[in-house]
Amino acid sequence: KELTYSDAIQKAGSSMFRFPLISVKGIPLMNHIANNFDAVSAFCPDPSDILIATYPKAGTTWTQEIVDLLLHNGDAEACRRAPTPVRSPFLEICSPPPIPSGAYPKSKEIKSKTHLPIQLVPTGFWEKKCKTIYVARNAKDNTVSYYHFGRMNMTQPEPGPWEDYVQKFMRGEMPWGSWYDHVKGYWQEREKRNILYIFYEDMKEDPRREVERIMKYMDLSLSDDVVGSIVELTTFKNMKENPMANYTCIPENVFDQSISSFMRKGEVGDWKNHFTPEQSAEFDEDYEKKMKQVNIPFRTQF
Ligand code: A3P
Repeated sequence: KELTYSDAIQKAGSSMFRFPLISVKGIPLMNHIANNFDAVSAFCPDPSDILIATYPKAGTTWTQEIVDLLLHNGDAEACRRAPTPVRSPFLEICSPPPIPSGAYPKSKEIKSKTHLPIQLVPTGFWEKKCKTIYVARNAKDNTVSYYHFGRMNMTQPEPGPWEDYVQKFMRGEMPWGSWYDHVKGYWQEREKRNILYIFYEDMKEDPRREVERIMKYMDLSLSDDVVGSIVELTTFKNMKENPMANYTCIPENVFDQSISSFMRKGEVGDWKNHFTPEQSAEFDEDYEKKMKQVNIPFRTQF
């Protein structure tokens, strides 16, 4: 019997908790990923694989659900066949141990999610010309979401107090490194590598428009009704209630959702409830310096 993602985590047991970060080519990664990085780099995708790339907490799970539904013509039952990490495996965790390769479904529909910065993505994805969807989220909301995720995800380093966390975020001392370098890296390569670059805020503003963009990029043409039902099935509320999308598949001792839900708020602008005016001003000044050379159209005025 193949191990499920959840079985594999259970098996790994307490050795998984609060992994320290180790630098891989200058990028801090949790040590279980860093120690298996050669195996990750050697991963050889099929040309039909679709890579969903994000900085953590930018809307990965939402996009994974949309892509799976698009591939299944909006069939809700089909997309409840397994939890998200089995339907759309986590490249840098699922490929090598401790999550055995058995966590990959064997069908042709394999899609992968990754948080790797573009320079660490296995070259096979570019050689095979796989489709890549990159989702970016505005920096402040991304910081807030990552902070709460760090509190409940026992495999990541403790986030510590919020005021320190903001400083670490600005310095890029985060699992998967600097948000600033991440969003810029994919942006600069998007045309050359045919990457669809989308924004969380746009998905919130007009989910139908963004689902249609993803559909076209995937060379699919589904009916208006099907697109409408995909939009409905992937609302925050519906995904929060869907056990195959809300990460309740991960045991509580790994994701403690009593601390913070995986499907936490799903809103734009929650940063205003976290950043003090001083933190916000310092963040903005630092942001300006780091982002000024590359004009990524983040909508940060809410
Ligand atoms: P918040 O913590 O701000 O609520 P990822 O999937 O990359 O880990 O991102 C998780 C973030 O996306 C969380 O943000 C989560 O609530 C939000 N999210 C997940 N599904 C969503 C949906 N269908 N609509 C809007 N936001 C969603």
